[in-house]
Amino acid sequence: VPLQPCNTFGIVARAHTLVRVRSVEDLHAVLADAQLAPLPKLVLGGGSNIVLTGDVRPVVLKMEIKGLRLVEATDRAWIVEAGAGEVWHDTVAWTLAQGFAGLENLALIPGTVGAAPVQNIGAYGVELQDRFESLDAVDLATGQCFTLDAAQCAFGYRDSVFKHAPSPSPAEGGLPRGMGLAGRAVITHVRFRLPRPWKPVLGYLDLERRRAEAGVDQPTAQQIFEWVCDIRRAKLPDPAVIGNAGSFFKNPTVTPEQCADIIARDPKIVHYPMPDGSIKLAAGWLIDACGWKGKSVGKAGVYEKQALVLVNRGQGASSVTGGEVMTLARAIQTSVYERFGIRLEPEPVVW
Ligand code: EPU
Repeated sequence: VPLQPCNTFGIVARAHTLVRVRSVEDLHAVLADAQLAPLPKLVLGGGSNIVLTGDVRPVVLKMEIKGLRLVEATDRAWIVEAGAGEVWHDTVAWTLAQGFAGLENLALIPGTVGAAPVQNIGAYGVELQDRFESLDAVDLATGQCFTLDAAQCAFGYRDSVFKHAPSPSPAEGGLPRGMGLAGRAVITHVRFRLPRPWKPVLGYLDLERRRAEAGVDQPTAQQIFEWVCDIRRAKLPDPAVIGNAGSFFKNPTVTPEQCADIIARDPKIVHYPMPDGSIKLAAGWLIDACGWKGKSVGKAGVYEKQALVLVNRGQGASSVTGGEVMTLARAIQTSVYERFGIRLEPEPVVW
């Protein structure tokens, strides 16, 4: 089965077996199938946060569980549930159209609902964990359905329990706290908690600028949604036109001492103090400062408007390979390390 249409980088790769999962019952059927059950599995949502470096031997579970509904309304929050296979941006638009505001800062992030908790998607001052209620998942080892709350998901910056390998000998029954669930659990439904009354999140400079330009004091959620869409369209490539997987590296954090040291040499470095006292650096700025913006190695390129995004300069059958992307990524890591002493960590899943 060709996987090129299933990953936003547009990398050519094949899967031995691909199963479209449209319900929890479909998952149970896979686990009850004598041939499929024992094989390793790879869960794929929108394929917007993965780099395929070769053909995929495990069974690909393509998540297509649909459904959007309000499950609870109190004076303090709307609780909304979405199937893992819903398109993320459409889900954000749907909630706003229903009058349930709160996801507007996360507009236009590629991918599906089920993938959102895996990397704790975030943009313009809001992370998924700020709007998260709980999720349902199926344990691939036992077929059991289970529910996790935010604490059990162990959310961090572009991180969660779903990005970490399971411990070698999982405890009997249940899924204890802190255990990695990568490759072990399949998210089927996600519930969001959208607080009432709604409050806009405008701290991010790009948004503040839009608000000032529009001369609006109290923007609506719909306005913020449109500003976020505008900002993203202006600096991030549309994967339907140019293959990419969003930010390719995480923004690194350093100690105030390390930061002072870098500022002494590069006074213009973009940095933000974090609540825990560490300093977050803009990886895009570091890569840009090393002269990578707009450069290419083979068919792997650095996007000209945002150096943090690696793009596919090929197309169709002559697409970039995962190997080329990783060669470019390593070259970038080396030059950032040599100049700043900072090790950049890839953000997408590298398969
Ligand atoms: N910058 C440069 N040169 C560049 C790119 C960025 O100087 O080539 C500077 C910008 O001028 C800006 C700073 O770096 O001062 C930060 O750039 P930007 O506002 O574009 O945000 P980012 O830190 O690069 C992060 C997220 C994005 C998210 C935006 C907005 C990560 C890895 N990336 O990018 O998330 O949309 O903030 O909140 O945290 C993603 O995860 O795939 C993603 C796109």
